[in-house]
Amino acid sequence: MTDHSNSLIDTARALMAAGKGLLAMDESLGTCNRRFAPLGIAQTEENRRRYRELLVTTPQLAQHISGAILFEETLYQHAKDGTPFVDILKAAGIVVGIKVDAGAQPLAGFPGERITEGLDGLRERLQQYAGQGARFAKWRAVLSIDTGLPSRTAIEANAQGLARYAALCQEAGVVPIVEPEVLMDGDHDLARCQAVTREVLDVVFAQLHRHGVLLEGMLLKPNMVLPGEGGPQVSVQAVAQATVETLRRAVPAAVGGIAFLSGGQSSALATEHLNAMHQGAPLPWPLTFSYGRALQDDALRLWAGDDANVQRAQQALLLRARCNGAAAQGQYRPAMEG
Ligand code: 13P
Repeated sequence: MTDHSNSLIDTARALMAAGKGLLAMDESLGTCNRRFAPLGIAQTEENRRRYRELLVTTPQLAQHISGAILFEETLYQHAKDGTPFVDILKAAGIVVGIKVDAGAQPLAGFPGERITEGLDGLRERLQQYAGQGARFAKWRAVLSIDTGLPSRTAIEANAQGLARYAALCQEAGVVPIVEPEVLMDGDHDLARCQAVTREVLDVVFAQLHRHGVLLEGMLLKPNMVLPGEGGPQVSVQAVAQATVETLRRAVPAAVGGIAFLSGGQSSALATEHLNAMHQGAPLPWPLTFSYGRALQDDALRLWAGDDANVQRAQQALLLRARCNGAAAQGQYRPAMEG
């Protein structure tokens, strides 16, 4: 569908480099402020900038991180010495990405469900972001599990949004990360999450086909198949098996790669789950991480807004990146935690 096919495939491959994954540092203003509040960090643009400077200047990060997803504000920010964050990442060999959705709003007529917005003007915004150095993008749709939810309407509306976004990205030469997140809120069991995740992925890929999206030039960012937070918990192996089984059934082998969100799992579990998925038969696609909280939680807590803690916080980020990089190859060992 596009002249950009080769460069899209090259970018997708670079993001899926062996032993590496993505750093999701694209928290919106509201989300970033929500993470700052309990740590007593003032919710200012300057503090968000200081925190993001800590992340992007972490020494050796590129050994385990192939790409970083930025929020729009961050794409235009600079380090204290005046160097644009984009240039710092590029110089380190980390591909720059950008969250382009405008967030999830209540879906009219469907209480408890949401639709992700942001398609208006997206073609023009993608041109600007690409001009600023972004080579990939992210759009997140959220689906809740509850009695009777998610509705087929919410699944279809969000899948169509994801497909329209992905097609616009590829038209602009930007690799789309397609993120349909089935949330882990609730008391449902593993089987329910598996059934819902399967249905969502089936509908998403049907829409991607209908919109002519080049599968080799896109990445999927799914939830793992997990029981609800309040539901019956299961072993690491059970999560890995259910997740891989679902993805094998629903995700075409042509897809450029799969990079999980962490979704509220603890950092340690997110690593163990990914590692366990690599213990079985070879997988048809590269399978890695694109974590936000599971990479950043320790670092943010250690930093707590105080520059005296930058080095310790960066070490904590690097440790999580290293453990997850190993997990993406099935080589994580608890002894690596140090
Ligand atoms: P979490 O890993 O914290 O779920 O964030 C990943 C992400 O990018 C959500 O859109």
